[in-house]
Amino acid sequence: MYPLLFRLVLRRLDAERAHRLAFALIRLAAAVPVLRTLAAAVLAPRYRELRTEALGLRMHGPFGLAAGFDKNAHGVDGLALLGFDHVEIGTVTARPQPGNPAPRLFRLPADRALINRMGFNNEGSAAVAARLASRRPVFRVPVGVNIGKNKTTPESEATADYVTSAERLARHAAYLVVNVSSPNTPGLRDLQAAERLRPLLTAVRAAADRGAPGRRVPLLVKIAPDLADADIDAVADLALDLGLDGIIATNTTVAREGARGPRGHALASDPGLTAETGGLSGAPLADRSLAVLRRLYGRVGDRLTLVGVGGVETAEDAWQRILAGATLVQGYTGFIYRGPFFTRAVHKGLAARLRASPYTGLAEAVGAHAKNGA
Ligand code: FNR
Repeated sequence: MYPLLFRLVLRRLDAERAHRLAFALIRLAAAVPVLRTLAAAVLAPRYRELRTEALGLRMHGPFGLAAGFDKNAHGVDGLALLGFDHVEIGTVTARPQPGNPAPRLFRLPADRALINRMGFNNEGSAAVAARLASRRPVFRVPVGVNIGKNKTTPESEATADYVTSAERLARHAAYLVVNVSSPNTPGLRDLQAAERLRPLLTAVRAAADRGAPGRRVPLLVKIAPDLADADIDAVADLALDLGLDGIIATNTTVAREGARGPRGHALASDPGLTAETGGLSGAPLADRSLAVLRRLYGRVGDRLTLVGVGGVETAEDAWQRILAGATLVQGYTGFIYRGPFFTRAVHKGLAARLRASPYTGLAEAVGAHAKNGA
């Protein structure tokens, strides 16, 4: 049904309109009690063996929605009824901002990829905090909150932006993510350098503790796939040193040339499209995201919670991330191309793989490839 809807309706719309329409439908489904019960039964069957504990949180499974789809926490219930085991909202900035001018989202169907330069369009952390505070959840899934800096904030004052948002949002967040890896805010990715990241993360940790007194909100950092190996190692060491809870790998890539598809082909889409400025997501990102995850796991092992994201389209992709060291896995672009049955297929395939594996549970499978030297 979805491929037909996709072909006939969504693909004819400009990508951002299609996103808005699909998201409105998702929210509508969640707002109608009969519809949501039915939809959840069909789309989100739960598997006991996939139950996951991560970051001190209990989840139905390991597979969540990556940041950027629901920037303002408008549709968490709808996304949960589609089967996501956690939903990461944001990126949220200290003040509201419109993002970049449209067009800013491009489909590359031949590559099963997207390029976006949205530029953190969002309502700001005060509005999002108020929405989360008044939310009456229908489906209980952890809501992670991803924070970033406003475009107009000078780089020297970036910390203040993150601190403001962390203070406002910590008490509503199952976990908090410091996003220093989106390619569409000038200078943001420079914050990944260890000497800049250390004071930033230290300040956000303190702000989160002030914002959620009596509760230590798990804090993660989300990194780019374009980091050099030495920089990945430096972030990993820093995260351990600061007592961070985890690392999300990865955000979108600025790479085009040399970006490889799952079968080792260069990008197939029109060069005019692939030349658009922005971050590339989806299938061409998979190999690089997996390599970054492997490197991180080799460095930190089970001492941090690793979240694998980038080009995850199938249960097999998700399973490979888990074997490489991811406790949690996320998807975004795969959801755009595969539609509402996306998580159902991933869950079903993951449960089958786990049953056929030598591992007694999902936790034992995490990093198993690295441990076995595979
Ligand atoms: C994103 N992503 C993203 N990440 C983030 O940390 N903050 C954000 O605001 C956004 N916004 C955003 C918008 C759009 C349109 C896309 C496609 C992606 C990145 C996303 O969370 C994820 O890290 C990458 O897209 C890689 O995963 P997929 O899409 O290949 O599964």
